[in-house]
Amino acid sequence: MASSSSDHPASSSQLSLREIPGSYGLPFFGPIKDRYHYFYNQGQDEFFKSRIKKYNSTVFRTNMPPGPFISSNSKVVAVLDSKSFTILFNNDKVEKKNILDGTYMPSTSFFGGYRVCAFLDTTESNHHALKSFFLSFLASSHKKFIPYLRTSLSELFENLENEITDKKSADFNKHSDNLAFDFVFKLVTGVLPSETKLNSKGPGIITTWLALQLAPLGTAGLKYVPGFLEDIIHTVRLPFFLIKSGYKKLYNAVFDSASLLLDEAEKLGMKREEACHNLVFLTGFNAFGGMKVLFPTLIKWIGSGGESLHRRLAEEIRAVVKEEGDITFSALEKMPLTKSAVYETLRIDPPVQFQYAKAREEIVVESHDAAFQIKKGEIIFGYQPLATKDPKVFENPDDFIADRFVGEGEKLINYVYWSNARETEQPSAENKQCPAKDLVVLCCRLMLVELFLRYDTLTVDIGKFSALGTPVTITSFTKAT
Ligand code: HEM
Repeated sequence: MASSSSDHPASSSQLSLREIPGSYGLPFFGPIKDRYHYFYNQGQDEFFKSRIKKYNSTVFRTNMPPGPFISSNSKVVAVLDSKSFTILFNNDKVEKKNILDGTYMPSTSFFGGYRVCAFLDTTESNHHALKSFFLSFLASSHKKFIPYLRTSLSELFENLENEITDKKSADFNKHSDNLAFDFVFKLVTGVLPSETKLNSKGPGIITTWLALQLAPLGTAGLKYVPGFLEDIIHTVRLPFFLIKSGYKKLYNAVFDSASLLLDEAEKLGMKREEACHNLVFLTGFNAFGGMKVLFPTLIKWIGSGGESLHRRLAEEIRAVVKEEGDITFSALEKMPLTKSAVYETLRIDPPVQFQYAKAREEIVVESHDAAFQIKKGEIIFGYQPLATKDPKVFENPDDFIADRFVGEGEKLINYVYWSNARETEQPSAENKQCPAKDLVVLCCRLMLVELFLRYDTLTVDIGKFSALGTPVTITSFTKAT
């Protein structure tokens, strides 16, 4: 650990209270000015880093996009260090109602007219009911995780190899999206999408459905389109009707196939239709949306890690599989480098970058250097890539150090926040942590295991990051010797 302040002491006794620096500017013009800096003049990282420098503080006031006319209030208090960020996980002090996407919420038509679980606050009884339902579904599916994933991963690598043979390189994202959708759909419904009327249309429909909801938060990065033209997508909401028929197909496929799970939901007192829209959101937004970003990120960092990292991973993985005779949960636990490389990916490039919450009461938030008073009702915003690259917690935070979390370093997983909580905490019906936290880590570990059982090394080309992930091209695989 880089500094003693990194253990995030709970008491504020030594920290003096400082007024939160920063301003929102003029009404209407302030939010638009900040939006232009954020998307076009500075870009995300520089937007936050330059303000940390200017205010000499990791906690400050700013506007966050989209602003007018999509959101009526874009004022937030940004918390950008590892310590102040954790206020976002304190459900006694912050409310998480309708705030998943930030200062605006897409129309509920995208979710069948319901406020689905991820938009509900922990004080709402429906959150408790739905989250418990998801947690029990995941617990009862536990035995399927490894076999389903291994089948999907074998297919992924076969498809990638075939594409390399045909075209000299392979689009990892396309095949990874198919793997993610097949795996989650089968887990939820018991059948593959190809056995339903959806066939292979699922990933395409969901990608459009996600893009329409999330357009106000991202930029298409179009080189030849001036910012003021592209900015239209940050000014008006994109309508649901553009994907209405696709969403209906998705809903019907889940409704017809997930009968066992929907029976279960009805027994628990839920409406079948509401439970089904929640399952579509879980499958499409939570799971597919998360994996769409995370899996290419994993291959980006591991692929770029070079042959020596690949050799160390292959040695560890092959030795454990040989000793254990199979790939089991306990075998995966015996791979410290593989585990660490996955946590390092989740630290350096958290798949969900933004977290928002509203102060339930007056709160005192501490950074490493000062304490700040946030008023009841104010919106708190965290940009996670800076919190998990806090130099007061992680040495050389911008470097990908695959064995960072091995041995003594394992303690640092306390400061890995990708699942909307510390990695050392567990999801429950009382918090807003991702219920599939352990499954997601398992998927990444298994992807590395399958990769290095098959290949000694690989080479990759990395494209430009966008809100829906980083494009990764596999340029070669060297088969295991
Ligand atoms: C790589 C994949 C995934 C990532 C990166 C991810 C990430 C997250 C994050 C960051 C949150 C908190 C959002 C917030 O409130 O700010 C969340 C919530 C949630 N995730 Fe995941 N997730 C993934 C996969 C899954 C899967 C596979 C499932 C279910 C099978 C799932 C179900 C949920 C649900 C239901 C919530 C809402 C929890 C609540 O409201 O209490 N996620 N996820």
